[in-house]
Amino acid sequence: MLDIKGLSAGYGPVVILRDISLGVEPGSITALVGPNGAGKTTLMKTILGLIRANSGSIVYDGADISRSPSHSRVDGGIALVPEGRMVFAALTVEQNLRLGAVVPRAHGGALERLEEIYRQFPRLKERRRQLAGSMSGGEQQMLAIGRSLMAKPRLILLDEPTLGLAPIMVKKVFEIISQLRADGYTVLLSEQNSKLALETADHGYIIENGIVTLSGPAHQLVDDPEVKRRYFGM
Ligand SMILES: Nc1ncnc2c1ncn2[C@@H]1O[C@H](COP(=O)(O)OP(=O)(O)O)[C@@H](O)[C@H]1O
Ligand SMILES: [Mg+2]
Repeated sequence: MLDIKGLSAGYGPVVILRDISLGVEPGSITALVGPNGAGKTTLMKTILGLIRANSGSIVYDGADISRSPSHSRVDGGIALVPEGRMVFAALTVEQNLRLGAVVPRAHGGALERLEEIYRQFPRLKERRRQLAGSMSGGEQQMLAIGRSLMAKPRLILLDEPTLGLAPIMVKKVFEIISQLRADGYTVLLSEQNSKLALETADHGYIIENGIVTLSGPAHQLVDDPEVKRRYFGM
């Protein structure tokens, strides 16, 4: 579904991503793991078109989108759940969800999708009139995911969804991610929680200093002694 080749990108003259190649199969979870500052968020933003690629290609559904504006990528079904969740604290849960449907591809059937998301996340329904800023980190993460679903995505970019969450909520978020795959969504997940991410994912990429240092089927990476030693602290 997503095929990235030789991608380089950064901020102005500062190059962060170097020669990144990465593929995402439809209906799968692909984990992008690596330490803080490795370039995970930069890659997510480049896929969405918030940062322009300096070179390389990003092929989505068979078409090179690397020069397309961000809004057309969103309208093609790519959604970003940003690092730090970025919910609108002063708006209610429902207002946040409705904002997810402002993109043209989501105009038809937005009400039905809202009901669907409430079925999937009963907690959000209970809290529909509550201000998003007064919810716990885990609830806000659920909201950020729900909001992205309102945009009718096919490929969901989940940037560090468990950052700063209590262990019980981390587990819950990983269950939600598995459920997204079961529901037919394709997920690219960035995580510092390498072990859980690779245990959940189908395929994994390890990124360090803006380059992919290792990739493979996630279950192989989980069992790789070098990965265990360097990334799981085992
Ligand atoms: N807006 C920016 N301008 C310049 N450099 C940035 C900016 N955002 C991030 N960086 C740098 O890019 C590198 C990768 O950051 P990031 O993609 O956020 O990593 P990760 O998400 O893996 O923690 C870091 O060295 C960071 O300092
Ligand atoms: Mg990041």
